[in-house]
Amino acid sequence: MDLTGKNLLGEAREYEETAAMKTEHCPRPSFHATPPTGWMNDPNGFSLYRGEYHLFFQYHPYDIHWGPMHWGHLKTEDFITWEMLPAALAPDKSYDYKGCFSGTALESDGKHILMYTGVYEEETEGGKKEIRQVQCIAIGDGINYEKSSANPVIDSSLEEGFSRIDFRDPKIWEKDGVYYSLAANRCEDGSGQLLLYKSEDLKRWEFCSALLKGSTEFGRMWECPDFFELEGKDIIIVSPQDMKAKGLEFHSGNGNMYFTGSFKLPEYTFQRESHGVLDYGLDFYAPQTLKAKDGRRILIGWMQTWDNYMTPDCFTWSGMMTIPRELTLRDGRIYQNPVRELENYRLKEVAYQNIRLQGMTQLEGIEGREIDLTLEFLNSNYDGFRLQFAAGGEEYTELYYEPAKGILTFDRKYSGIRRDVICERQISVKADGLKLRIILDKYSAEVFVNDGEKVMTSLFFTPLEAKDIRFLADGCVSMNIVKYDIAVNGESTYGA
Ligand code: FRU
Repeated sequence: MDLTGKNLLGEAREYEETAAMKTEHCPRPSFHATPPTGWMNDPNGFSLYRGEYHLFFQYHPYDIHWGPMHWGHLKTEDFITWEMLPAALAPDKSYDYKGCFSGTALESDGKHILMYTGVYEEETEGGKKEIRQVQCIAIGDGINYEKSSANPVIDSSLEEGFSRIDFRDPKIWEKDGVYYSLAANRCEDGSGQLLLYKSEDLKRWEFCSALLKGSTEFGRMWECPDFFELEGKDIIIVSPQDMKAKGLEFHSGNGNMYFTGSFKLPEYTFQRESHGVLDYGLDFYAPQTLKAKDGRRILIGWMQTWDNYMTPDCFTWSGMMTIPRELTLRDGRIYQNPVRELENYRLKEVAYQNIRLQGMTQLEGIEGREIDLTLEFLNSNYDGFRLQFAAGGEEYTELYYEPAKGILTFDRKYSGIRRDVICERQISVKADGLKLRIILDKYSAEVFVNDGEKVMTSLFFTPLEAKDIRFLADGCVSMNIVKYDIAVNGESTYGA
């Protein structure tokens, strides 16, 4: 029994058990995480606990649109197949009845610790109701989680000028017996900043510093910070809202970016070095990472953003995660590649060596909506090259490369889309040695350029019968092509 006199978590668990079956008209992607039913946004609490990888997520089980936020729960052994677990949190307390917002997790003393944002309303002096965002802890065993009696462990009594309305998405970690938490906050000028706290017992938290400030250079309010070490550097990831476009580097709206640098204790400072964008596609937001058993740093993001809602009305679920990606660092830039575990699911290799393409070509064996396709360009003296995929009749989605301009365009205008959402993104990439690895999984294309130097992730909901792949060369393009089907066998992970 909770605040509402109902058992909200119990109800959600019961609902998702039966609703998860109903996917006849909306088959799930084969190897990307989706919600059992209803709406999914940000990844939450992506963590290793008792040797298994857990992924929680922002979840509204009852509708394919955002609503009162629960935490849904999935588990994976290899980042490719996902097992549904019962919902972990429901908005059932006085400090979180407006939503259990995003957060992170860690393992400590055999327990699974979740840190999340509780949202509630408070009456202000003028009698108006105003949102409050506070940081909370829940402790569990991998299935059931109990909210701490000390909640909210960080309330919204912040310094003058720090927003009490926009204060969320804590990233928790532990170092030398001390817990740290980094939460996103809005400054008086509307820009984002990250507030650092520390604690010895997870109950009492002390403010350390405003570790990093955006000062309107990178959007306004920042969301969903992540913090970790990669090859000797400290990395901070944020998802800034209200970005302004800058060349081909930043696009307007909800963005994503990272800073490399060094975190200093006990000064509680972060010395910035380089920064960059993680994903240049249309559908990527709020990523977070974990350290795998073998030491790899693995990132997963919400494969959607707030500005593009395209889920077909007949779907019983909405929202997907990206394929988890391995991160490496080269010259201050983060490189990302699909987890190597994907290779265990490759079937039916089709390869073409040094093939010369002119005009429109379809190649024997190269088609499909669940594939891993690599194109290695061997020359750069052509005028243009288009790869059309998920093609059938008049519908297709395409990648278009113009070597003279050095611009790669993703375009889903003709994917059969009926909503007025953004359809195009461009990145700059050199023609020499161009290499594209394209991962398709029914409704998504994740394009890894030049071994992970840049990534573009986007969705399209073209009917699944549209499976053709067309090569259109303006001039003569020579390339090596390798394609695999990705086949995930065995028990369906959602009971569908
Ligand atoms: C980011 C975000 C978070 C918030 C959550 C609410 O996508 O806006 O800042 O915690 O979604 O669902």
